[in-house]
Amino acid sequence: MPRKMKKIYAAAEAVRTACGSAQIGIVLGSGLAGFEKALEDPREINFDEIPGFPKSAVAGHAAKFIAGTIHDKRVLVMSGRYHHYEGHSLFKVTIPIRVMALLGVNTLILTNAAGGVNTSFSPGDLMMITDYINLSGHNPLRGRNLDEFGPRFPDMTNAFDKQLQSIALQRAAYHNIKLHRGVYTWWNGPSYETPAEIRMVRSLGGDAVGMSTVPETIVARHCGMRVLGISSITNMAAGVIDAPIKHDDVLAMGAQVGEKLRLIIDSFIEYFPLQEL
Ligand code: HPA
Repeated sequence: MPRKMKKIYAAAEAVRTACGSAQIGIVLGSGLAGFEKALEDPREINFDEIPGFPKSAVAGHAAKFIAGTIHDKRVLVMSGRYHHYEGHSLFKVTIPIRVMALLGVNTLILTNAAGGVNTSFSPGDLMMITDYINLSGHNPLRGRNLDEFGPRFPDMTNAFDKQLQSIALQRAAYHNIKLHRGVYTWWNGPSYETPAEIRMVRSLGGDAVGMSTVPETIVARHCGMRVLGISSITNMAAGVIDAPIKHDDVLAMGAQVGEKLRLIIDSFIEYFPLQEL
């Protein structure tokens, strides 16, 4: 068995023993911390207790998996994520997604904080991700293919699932929450982009920029999961307005937007027809 597979199986075993299985996975981005409080009968494991998980804690997050039930559905929440800019390989950044797949997760909700490129957006808005552009120059599937999970050349035509998008839009409308649709553009970070880069993103058709989510989406699609992605627009991207981007402002706005996002996700789970998908 490839060394990478052994690592993933060992991590999955630890999480399964601590948390059990689940069908819906959620990765909490900046500002969403605390969503796990909605889980009934929570069972959790810290990342530092999981073999093969990088030790560095993720700032502003609890860095743990919590499993439980919401609206009678088994949900596994990942509070905190790893980023490429922290120095972790993309294989390590995405191990948690493969662990979720081994625990039965077939529907993945990815959330993040992002900068708004589309000038019709405002800080505090939410954007449902309809597609991505990978500007990082990297891919988490580089290297020997893990055939146990998926094919060498996975299709990304429907990286974000249309049926999940339509449920999320319906639920947002029901709760009177504006949910933009748009293209998320992945940059490595950790420096924010330059105004010239943001003009380039706009001319390429990008609506938001961020430093996560795309590697997780690629690996989730490789495993055959359905993915829903929602960005909190925490700030306007570089140069859109005449003000520097400050990480503290990004975190503060993320926390403010969190409530709306929590409501959409809770309602999404309630109305999500698990059996029919
Ligand atoms: N750029 C990249 N990542 C981000 C931003 C941004 O403007 N805001 C929040 N995450």
